[in-house]
Amino acid sequence: MGNLVEYHWNQALMTSDKSLKEFMAVSQARAEEALDARLPGETRMPERLHQAMRYSALGGGKRLRPLLTYATGIALDIPLEALDGPASAVEMIHVYSLIHDDLPAMDDDSLRRGKPTCHIAFDEATAILAGDGLQALAFHVLATDPTMKVSADQRMAMVECLATASGSYGMVGGQAIDLHSVGKQLDLPALENMHIRKTGALIRASVRLAAIAQPAGNDPLIEQLDHYAQCIGLSFQIKDDILDEESDTQTLGKTQGKDRDNNKPNYPTLLGMAGAKEKAQDMHEAALDSLKAFGPEADLLRQLSQFIIDRKN
Ligand code: IPE
Ligand code: IPE
Ligand code: MG
Ligand code: MG
Ligand code: MG
Repeated sequence: MGNLVEYHWNQALMTSDKSLKEFMAVSQARAEEALDARLPGETRMPERLHQAMRYSALGGGKRLRPLLTYATGIALDIPLEALDGPASAVEMIHVYSLIHDDLPAMDDDSLRRGKPTCHIAFDEATAILAGDGLQALAFHVLATDPTMKVSADQRMAMVECLATASGSYGMVGGQAIDLHSVGKQLDLPALENMHIRKTGALIRASVRLAAIAQPAGNDPLIEQLDHYAQCIGLSFQIKDDILDEESDTQTLGKTQGKDRDNNKPNYPTLLGMAGAKEKAQDMHEAALDSLKAFGPEADLLRQLSQFIIDRKN
C-alpha cells in the first residue's frame, strides 16, 4: 500500500467502498505506528506504568478519531505526516478515557477491545496512572512534536482545542453527567447534552485539530466541517448505545448490555430502538448536508459518517 496521499490524487478511488476499507486499513496502521513511536518504551522506568499505557493504547480499537483527523487532512490538502502528532494525541486522550471509564468506580468493565481492561490486566492504581500518563503525553505531543510543521500559534490553538474537548466542559464533564444520571430518566435535551460532551467533544476535536493544522487564511469551510463533526459525534454515541443493546460481547470486544446492567439512560431506552436508529440516520444526513460545499476530496469524511451508523462494533 502506497502513501495515503495517493488517495487525494486518485479521487475516483475515493468514491468506492473499497477505498474506505483501504483508507481505514492504511490509516489504522499509520495511527498505530505513530502512537508506538510516541509512547515511552516498556523498558523505560517506571516499566509497569509504561507497559500499562502501551497495553491499552496499542493493538486494538477502530482508531476512529485518528481516521477523522487524517480524512479531514485529505479534504483540506494537508500532508498527512503533519497530522501524526494530532492524530496520536487525540487517540491518547480517548484511550485514557476508556481506561478510566472501565474502572470499578465508573462502568466497572472487565473487557475492552477484546482484552482484559487495564485495571484487570494490571491493577486499579496502575490503570488510573496509565490514564493520567496518556493524558499528559497527549499535550506533550501537541506542544513539542517536531513532525507537525506548524507555527507556535497553531500549536497553542491545538492545545486549547484538545484541552477544552477533554476537560470538564467536554469529555470529563460528559462522564460526570453520565455517572450522575444512573437510574434517572433524562429527557432528550439532557441526554443529547451528555452525549455531545462525553463522546462528541473528542470527535469534534479530531476534525478540528486537522483544520487548525492547515496554513493560515485558508479556512472558509471550517464551520461546515465543525458542523459535520458535531453531527457524527452524536450519531456515534447513539450507535454505541444501540450496539450495547443489540450486539454481542464477542463482536463488540466489550461486555454487551452494560448500559442496561448499570441503569444508564441512553437513546434506545428513551426513543425506542426504531427511534434511536432514525435519530442516528438523521444525524448522518445532517452530516452529509454540512459537507455540501466540498467535492470528492471530502468523500472519505462522507463514508466515515456512513460507517459510524453501519458499524458492527
Ligand atoms: C468507545 O469508543 C467509547 C465511546 C466513546 C462510545 P470507540 O467505539 O471508538 O472505541 P474503540 O477506540 O474502537 O475501542
Ligand atoms: C464512554 O461511553 C465514553 C467515554 C469513554 C468518554 P460508554 O461508557 O458508553 O463507552 P463504552 O460503551 O464503555 O465503550
Ligand atoms: Mg461510560
Ligand atoms: Mg463504558
Ligand atoms: Mg457504551
